[in-house]
Amino acid sequence: MSTFKAPKGTYDLIPPVSETFLAVRDALSAPLRRAGYGYVETPGFESVELFARGVGESTDIVTKEMYTLTTKGGDELALRPEGTASVLRAALEASLHKAGNLPVKLWYSGSYYRYERPQKGRYRHFSQVGAEAIGAEDPALDAELIILAVDAYKSLGLRNFRLLLNSLGDKECRPVYRAALQEFLRGLDLDEDTRRRIDINPLRVLDDKREAVQKQLTGAPMMRDHLCEACKAYHEQVRELLTAAGVEFEDDPKLVRGLDYYTRTTFEFVHDGLGSQSAVGGGGRYDGLSEMIGGPELPSVGWALGVDRTVLALEAEGVELQLPASTQVFTVPLGEEARRTLFGVVTELRRAGIATDFAYGGKGLKNAMKSANRSGARYAIVAGERDLAEGAVQLKDLQSGEQAPVALGEIVAELRRKLA
Ligand code: HAM
Repeated sequence: MSTFKAPKGTYDLIPPVSETFLAVRDALSAPLRRAGYGYVETPGFESVELFARGVGESTDIVTKEMYTLTTKGGDELALRPEGTASVLRAALEASLHKAGNLPVKLWYSGSYYRYERPQKGRYRHFSQVGAEAIGAEDPALDAELIILAVDAYKSLGLRNFRLLLNSLGDKECRPVYRAALQEFLRGLDLDEDTRRRIDINPLRVLDDKREAVQKQLTGAPMMRDHLCEACKAYHEQVRELLTAAGVEFEDDPKLVRGLDYYTRTTFEFVHDGLGSQSAVGGGGRYDGLSEMIGGPELPSVGWALGVDRTVLALEAEGVELQLPASTQVFTVPLGEEARRTLFGVVTELRRAGIATDFAYGGKGLKNAMKSANRSGARYAIVAGERDLAEGAVQLKDLQSGEQAPVALGEIVAELRRKLA
């Protein structure tokens, strides 16, 4: 076994894949930045209490998957398993909701941690780009977020993803439905674990992946048929707005989600090329979360898109992002004097905004040209003593192979022109 090994369920981002990651993060957040969402960054850990109250004591995320620790000072902390509770906590702490400008619209990007059984697409450390619109109840806001996510995926060139949509009702109709579902489930032949779940979180039973369980669920009462008039009207408006925006969706009455805070609109983006870990993103409305963590009533909606899985989805579809070359010019000095002079040129080129690299380590011409080609640069500057004595450097087009001398004093201006 190698001594160098990242912890189980994690992996390192290294070039060139890391460049794709950065580009995906950018693409997922770009539509948000054009829609009035401001950037928020919160700590990588929070009090355990926040997630227990926010995400829910009955969820796998809180009961099984949290990385918790006790500090030397005795505080109980958890590495954040998700972003919504933290972002809402930060907004409340800064009283953003009192500035008289609701909804407060925020976006974020970062690392999240869940102690899950690792497999392809499911990691213990993963990345999300997320958005939260806090303090407004308006179907257009739910639709806005869904449309922005669809546009983000499309801007990357993804095609084989689907949007699943559901409504989980509100504090009026959900308890009534919950009781009806519990009554139905108690009449089934289920194992002890699942029976316990009926008491704590009956909706999760609908989500059971086992075929034997799914068979028995035929005829189970569905939230869809128990929505109150207000929830029904709200959901209908979200659906209409999505349709008007040309966004296709599938109604999925069994879509439950793994976090307890959802009310009304819930949705998930699934990609068909990813196997069992097919959810590339998800979210929904969480009108009660603020009160659950001790804040005022602040109906809100948001989503988080998985960066790791979006990268896998791109791979599955064979989409290659057009990334700008990380090096535009590669500089090759031949001899000590050329090394000093060309190192000065490298600095000048960089200051002029041209991505430039240098053949370090006193490489010979052959090896240095190999590095130049590997760097992806379009141009190489090569110079030895004889060139410099004539006040010139050789400029080589690495695509065409053409090479011509350029006056040393002109090289920055010349490359600027050529790369413009
Ligand atoms: P979530 O569905 O738990 O929602 O996570 C969102 C996305 O993060 C998933 O669809 C998936 O792409 C990615 N993800 C989750 N767990 C893993 C993992 N172990 N490995 C790789 N990727 C993963 C939330 O986190 C909510 N906070 C979303 C939200 C925001 N709801 C309202 N506002």
